[in-house]
Amino acid sequence: MSNAIGDTIKILRSERGITQERLAEQLNISAPAVSKWERGEARPDITLVPKLAAFLGISTDKLFGIDQTAESVFYNKVYDTDQYYWGVEPSTMCYEVLHCLPPTRPLRLLDIGCGEGKDAVFFARCGYIVSAFDLSEAGLEKTRLLAEKARVTVNTFSANLWHYLLTENYDILHSSGVFAYIKPDIRAEIMENYKTHVNDGGLVAFQTFVQKPFIERAPEKETNAYPWKSGELFTYFHDWYIENCSEYVFDCNSAGVPHKHAANRLFARNIKELH
Ligand SMILES: C[S@@+](CC[C@H](N)C(=O)[O-])C[C@H]1O[C@@H](n2cnc3c(N)ncnc32)[C@H](O)[C@@H]1O
Repeated sequence: MSNAIGDTIKILRSERGITQERLAEQLNISAPAVSKWERGEARPDITLVPKLAAFLGISTDKLFGIDQTAESVFYNKVYDTDQYYWGVEPSTMCYEVLHCLPPTRPLRLLDIGCGEGKDAVFFARCGYIVSAFDLSEAGLEKTRLLAEKARVTVNTFSANLWHYLLTENYDILHSSGVFAYIKPDIRAEIMENYKTHVNDGGLVAFQTFVQKPFIERAPEKETNAYPWKSGELFTYFHDWYIENCSEYVFDCNSAGVPHKHAANRLFARNIKELH
């Protein structure tokens, strides 16, 4: 008998460093019940499926092995080559993270939507303890390859940021070019979750595309992209210390067509108390 669902639970649980006991506790069931799922001796009760999927950060479809979002199909295709679509050099934003919160002590960093890993690997090379996730398996595979070449460790895992709510704290959350895939109606919940999982003194370094009437849509014309409004990202962090928030326009040549993007960049610190 195929145990696709049990295998998925086991793989994702291990990737995320979650014990069977912890998963059981979260679902209010016993640890042996989780063990039985993973051995294929039982299936999760249907009423537990939404909570289980949310805790593992995937859609219920993916839990049943049928997740094919437009983004994963698109990016798996784009990344399915030896070339690095986004290159292997880190973005300038990474150097700003280094400047803002240097790894003078062990700092945990999460790269949200890491793509092919150019930024995650850079952070690992600088000495941060890096985890990185993306929807695209092809992107994650290239991230692992890049890390291997640089002889550093990046803890990669596949997750959909729509469903993957953080359960552990980080010192730095980094994300570039990804948030436009978050539908407007779920942004507040996701940003709130991120805010509550950054250590005291920690940092978010986020970049997202914004809509401007004077900038044409990118040639990819992705139907599942929802550019943000200028300033929208900043408002979620209004009660944090804003290190830097900016808007800029840059050239892009994706799909071989020269065009422009407008983006907002936010560096905000979680400061509980002024010392
Ligand atoms: C423009 S690329 C940016 C990649 C990387 N951050 C970089 O700067 O090189 C957008 C990335 O977001 C990922 N992505 C899109 N929707 C996602 C989702 N719902 N959950 C997780 N990752 C997603 C894509 O697979 C893709 O790798």
